[in-house]
This record gives sequence, C-alpha cells and structure tokens, in this order.
Amino acid sequence: MKAAIYAKYGSPEVLEVADIPKPIPGPNEIVVQVHATTVTPVDIAFLRAKPWFNRLFLGLRRPKNRVLGSEFAGEVESVGADVKSFASGDRIFGETMSGTQAEYVCVQEDSPIIHMPEGISYQDAATFPYAFLTALPFLRDAGKIHPGQRLLIVGASGAIGSLAVQMAHLFGATVTGVCSTKNVDLVKRLGADTVIDYTQSVPSESGQKYDVIFDAVGKLPFDKARKILTPNGKYLTAFFSWGIFPNMALNPFRAQKAKLVTTGLRKVAAKKSDLKLLVEMIEQGKLRPVIDHTYALSEIQEAYCYVETGHKVGNVIVTLA
Ligand SMILES: NC(=O)c1ccc[n+]([C@@H]2O[C@H](COP(=O)([O-])OP(=O)(O)OC[C@H]3O[C@@H](n4cnc5c(N)ncnc54)[C@H](OP(=O)(O)O)[C@@H]3O)[C@@H](O)[C@H]2O)c1
Repeated sequence: MKAAIYAKYGSPEVLEVADIPKPIPGPNEIVVQVHATTVTPVDIAFLRAKPWFNRLFLGLRRPKNRVLGSEFAGEVESVGADVKSFASGDRIFGETMSGTQAEYVCVQEDSPIIHMPEGISYQDAATFPYAFLTALPFLRDAGKIHPGQRLLIVGASGAIGSLAVQMAHLFGATVTGVCSTKNVDLVKRLGADTVIDYTQSVPSESGQKYDVIFDAVGKLPFDKARKILTPNGKYLTAFFSWGIFPNMALNPFRAQKAKLVTTGLRKVAAKKSDLKLLVEMIEQGKLRPVIDHTYALSEIQEAYCYVETGHKVGNVIVTLA
C-alpha cells in the first residue's frame, strides 16, 4: 500500500510516499481503507520531534512509527476474529495515535472510532475527531462553559478554534473569537458574537473581561490574558510552553487559574462516549466542517508546509481512496 513515511525527524522534505506492507488485523483489530485524513500541528510536532521530549515516546534517535496522521474517515476493509462491533464495508471515523496518512490503517476495536453519520462525506467527517476530542474537554470539562459566560477563543479560525466557537455558541456562552482580518466573517458565521481582529487591535487591551479564555494556538500568554480575565476567571491553553508551569504552580494561591489541558491522554472510554455525542451533533446539523485545502497523498510535503505556516483555516485534508 502507499503511505507517507518518514525515516528521520526533520522538515516536510523528509516525508516521502512509498510502498509499505498492508496491515493484517490481529484478533481485536480493524483494517480501515482510509478515504480522508488530515495534517495537523501535532503531525508537525511529531515530524520535527519538537519539543524534544516527544522523542521519549516517538523514538529517541528516529521515529518508531514511520507513518504519521491521527484522524481518519474510511471504510472497514477487514476485521479480526474477535471484533464484534464493526464489519467490512462499514463507514467509520475516529482517532488513533498514528498511521492514518496511508491507504490503510490498523486500529483497535477498543479505540476512539465510531460509525459515521449518514449522508456525510469522508472529507467532512475527517475534520471532526481531533478537533472535537480536543475542544469538548476544554469547554465542557475544564471550562465548565454554561449560558451567560463570556468566553474568548484565541485561534478561532484554526481546526480546534473553529469547532470550539461553534460548540461554545451551542453551550450558550457569549463568544468572542480572535483571528486575522481574512477570517473575521467566517468566525462570525460559526457563531461568535464578537470578533477581535488581532491585526487591528490587541486582544489583551480590549477592555472587556472574560470568564474563560481558551487559547487554542498559544498566542495569548497567561501574563497578558490575566488583564482581561474576570477575578475568578480561567485561562486554558492547548499549546505547550514551559511558561505555563510556574503559573499553574501558583493556582492554589490566586483566584484566576491557568491550565494546560492535555486531551490526548484521556481514557479510550471517555473518548468513545464523546464520539457518540459528536455523531449526534453532526446528525442534528449542529456542526459545520471547515476545510481549507485538500491535497492528494502525493502532495503530502506541500500539505505539511502549508500547515506549518500556522495560518490554515480549519482543516487541511489529505484524500486517498
Ligand atoms: N493540549 C492538547 O491536548 C492538544 C491537542 C491537540 C492539539 N493541540 C495543539 O493545539 C494547537 C492548535 O491546533 P489547531 O489544529 O487548531 O491549529 P491550526 O488550525 O493550525 O491553527 C491555525 C490558526 O491559528 C490562527 N492564528 C495564528 N496566529 C494567531 C494569532 N496571533 N491570534 C489568533 N489566531 C491566530 C490562524 O489564523 P490567521 O491565519 O487568521 O492568523 C489559523 O487559522 C496546536 O498547537 C496543537 O499542537 C493540543
């Protein structure tokens, strides 16, 4: 099968499309023919092994798993002898640690995967698992977002931000999104009540106070965000930086809280249950996919270079079948 592989860490130039053996499912495994996958900043971090400690689980000197990609939509090709909930021909989507930027990926039956809702394309479906399984724990669990709250979302036009805006609006919060001029209309259409164009004004000098600030892209550090947080407000960030840790250590001593939330480490059962909610929300027409560029597998280097600019709008899709 064809796959985008990397044999060493580095820039997108180290990626190449090559033939590798097609996976064979173990007793509890499912082989999926991938129709659509994405390239995300997490793939960039794994490609470059940055920050350095990524090497502790990716492989110290070179990557152990040579195929990147963590979310997919596709068709079940074959299942292991003990698989009960999926059969060949099923249309499924979900998340896995790696390996989706290939014609076939092998996933555990007990992993964050689920049948796709009726009537959705593979490309649209592939936009949701990563962003939903990140945005939901931020908004529902860490932010405890509820009607009447004021929420600021920094990076409102990114994959996670564009879904977070839609979900926070549905949860009843008053949403302000931060993005650049070209994305202002989109972020409003997704449900933001107000948009701050960061090229025209400085979000931390807006004068408005927010109950929760969700910095999806690491552009508004806590020290600046504090100025526009309510006295008991929460600052949540998806972006790893060493600077957040001293602030988290001070949480017990101050009313304003800072938190780096790591959603990837959540239990499979919690993710599976959240995917059921995702399917319901898609079926009810509550969530819109946001797709920027779509690339073929042969254009994988271009896809990575574009994601690395940090300015994609929503999702970058790679189509396969
Ligand atoms: N903590 C976790 O568990 C977890 C899980 C998954 C992902 N992540 C991390 O979450 C982060 C976001 O991922 P993503 O896929 O949503 O990113 P993304 O889609 O690549 O974000 C791109 C967006 O960021 C916007 N942006 C750039 N500079 C900005 C600024 N100064 N202010 C506001 N927006 C700005 C861009 O808008 P403009 O073009 O308008 O500038 C663009 O639309 C990544 O760092 C990823 O590694 C964390």
